Amino acid sequence: MRICDLDTPSLLLDKDIFDHNLRLMSQRARAAGKLLRPHAKTHKCSRIAKEQLAAGHCAGVCAAKVSEALALLCAGLPSVLITSPVVGKLKIDHLCACLATGAECLVVVDNYDNAAALSAAAGACGRTLPVLLDIDPEMGRTGVAFAEAPALAHRIAGLEHLHLRGLQCYAGHLQHLPDCTRRQAESQRLMRQTAQIYRGLQNEGLQLDIFTGTGTGTAAADLKIAEITDLQVGSYCVLDAEYAAVEDPQNLSFEDFRPALTLLTSVISTNIAGQVTVDAGLKALYYTPAAPPRVVRAAQPLPGWRYDWFGDEHGTLFFSGQKAPALGEYFELCLPHCDPTINLHDSIQVHQQGQVIEQWPVDLRGLGQ
Ligand SMILES: Cc1ncc(COP(=O)(O)O)c(C=O)c1O
Repeated sequence: MRICDLDTPSLLLDKDIFDHNLRLMSQRARAAGKLLRPHAKTHKCSRIAKEQLAAGHCAGVCAAKVSEALALLCAGLPSVLITSPVVGKLKIDHLCACLATGAECLVVVDNYDNAAALSAAAGACGRTLPVLLDIDPEMGRTGVAFAEAPALAHRIAGLEHLHLRGLQCYAGHLQHLPDCTRRQAESQRLMRQTAQIYRGLQNEGLQLDIFTGTGTGTAAADLKIAEITDLQVGSYCVLDAEYAAVEDPQNLSFEDFRPALTLLTSVISTNIAGQVTVDAGLKALYYTPAAPPRVVRAAQPLPGWRYDWFGDEHGTLFFSGQKAPALGEYFELCLPHCDPTINLHDSIQVHQQGQVIEQWPVDLRGLGQ
């Protein structure tokens, strides 16, 4: 089957570009003596997580939610770190189901009472739960402040059924900073502060072996921090226009990573001059004004063509030039933001040079708890 035989809208993954992105991040980690712990929140697809592991140099993968972690473990992934706190009885029960798979499941904590509840639950199912202390990189989302981290680490390390393995610090607010020098310097400042705590705790006798963090935007800077053990990068594998807008919007690239995903859409109405209506709107393509989708492939020349959302089901393609796009004509759009767009689709059509070679289910889709 070729791309032009697919129904629309469809999410397409260019396998050659995807492989290039995986190879590149693996090479960079290997050269710096680090591991990767790729974040599955980006793609919500256990098959992609397996491809990331197969590309090598991985400590495991990450999940944002406990339901995602359980799905990844049930799909056969050997080690999953949950990068948000797991709070409340229902979620802790799901965490126990993760432990019952027998595979490795780690979770971050930033609060003593939550850690005590996790310890009690792990004890009740006869397990020891590996945890990381989440450090707040002055972002105010999750994590404990730098000044309070050492004392909390020692208290958590004293809980009977937890094993404090290390620290997580993820500076989400820096990832898309357009000023590269500032992005890298700020990230290194925060990571050095975390590294100081990591070393301090080790010197005080805690057996820590994990210092994880970073995203695609700060990976290059954070690779230079000696204490960091692994990088929980996410977007690099498929990239998107938002990352490209940070560095090279014209060539759609970020530090040589390139967009592997596109949305295939087609024209369903042509009755208005200068524009046509396509079958992809908010339900197929996540909205962000930061990086509007660009037409990256079409049967006709593209300069001056522009896509805009037109409600839930539709988009408008504004065009310039002599020949109007015809009914049924296909276009590929670069994704503005990969994570929430992938979560709108059941499957990804994987292609090589226009030939559809596989279909990968977005099996973690909708798992938001
Ligand atoms: C905790 C955590 N780690 C890693 C990532 C991956 O970041 P990126 O997609 O920028 O590589 C994210 C993304 O939001 C995240 O929330």
